[in-house]
Amino acid sequence: MSDSQVIAANIQELRQRHSSKWRRFAPDVLPMHVAEMDFQIAEGIRDVIVDFTNRSDLGYLGPVPEVAESFVAFAAKRWGWAVDAKQVKLATDVGVAAVEVFRALGKPGDQVVVNTPVYSAFFGWIAETKLSQVDVPLIESGTDWSLDLDGLEKAFAAGAKFYLLCHPHNPLGKVYSRAELTAIAALAVKYDVIVISDEIHGPLTYAGVDFTPYLACGADAEATGIVITSASKSWNLAGLKAAILVTQSAAMATKVSVLPPDMHWRTSILGAFAMAEAFTNGEQWLDSALETIQGNFEFMKSEVAAKLPGVTVVEAHNSYLAWWDVTSLNLGTEPAKRIHDDARVAVVPGADLGAGYEHFVRFNYATSRENISEAISRIAAIA
Ligand SMILES: Cc1ncc(COP(=O)(O)O)c(C=O)c1O
Repeated sequence: MSDSQVIAANIQELRQRHSSKWRRFAPDVLPMHVAEMDFQIAEGIRDVIVDFTNRSDLGYLGPVPEVAESFVAFAAKRWGWAVDAKQVKLATDVGVAAVEVFRALGKPGDQVVVNTPVYSAFFGWIAETKLSQVDVPLIESGTDWSLDLDGLEKAFAAGAKFYLLCHPHNPLGKVYSRAELTAIAALAVKYDVIVISDEIHGPLTYAGVDFTPYLACGADAEATGIVITSASKSWNLAGLKAAILVTQSAAMATKVSVLPPDMHWRTSILGAFAMAEAFTNGEQWLDSALETIQGNFEFMKSEVAAKLPGVTVVEAHNSYLAWWDVTSLNLGTEPAKRIHDDARVAVVPGADLGAGYEHFVRFNYATSRENISEAISRIAAIA
């Protein structure tokens, strides 16, 4: 395979995989749930992993300037964002980065604002650290969803300590604009809120759409923000366990200096060097994967329109997770369960992403068109 053709593995190969996507459900279930891609990984990343393994170079992670340097170069080229290499720290994964920030800078009971529907692990990170969750749901109008800035200000004014921003947004594939991010930053300064911007899906922004990192939005953002991100989502390396945490002001660098230094030791050597390779040499693969993903999105929409008329699909600008309103299918109070039990397709229940979204499911389309088509046909057969 060359990097100019990022394609999904065939179903027989996929069924041999050991990851959660292919092991969680029975073998007759077509898994379209967890955020893993079914593509072959980039050759350069595969070579790094093979090379380290062949040389038995699998010890603890030592100094690794390659990670910060590669991210600085990638962020400058891709987004025009000037990252300070000295303010890049390693973490086991993005979830661990968030949890460590909550533990180090928060105390039990502190409020964390989220915007549902949102990536379900956010709720677990908040619960694990005994912080309390405050929801400012996104405002839905038709298939367009937007941030409730007034609601956000009320929540900040009521004493929130953190704002856990999902940017770009999972499951809506939404990329917030510079104007929205600047408005968030102004509120964060006004009410002294720490903004943790989870930008793990950032590199997966579609061609023609601008992704603006939170920390590229001026002094207010720099004073209030911590970006947590990784190559793991965009290059499909979740099992390698490596992520980064980035700040961009002396004040925030001082705040995060209390994070445990052991975060570095708890990061995988393979993950760190694979991430450096992804940021340094992975753009061609990424762009090719995005071409496939954007094509898949259009294909999925046409399949839904043909076989599941009445199901609405939110227009995505990023990543490979689609948010479907399945009300019209009349599948009862737990549509994802019916889809699993009767259609033998795994999708993420909307209810997992927040209260009030029981009539939605999340559908992963980073796979072959055959799998997309087959999954939609199976669902149509029970609807
Ligand atoms: C928004 C978001 N953050 C974090 C993660 C998980 O990242 P990690 O495996 O690095 O904890 C995901 C996984 O899908 C995600 O969608």
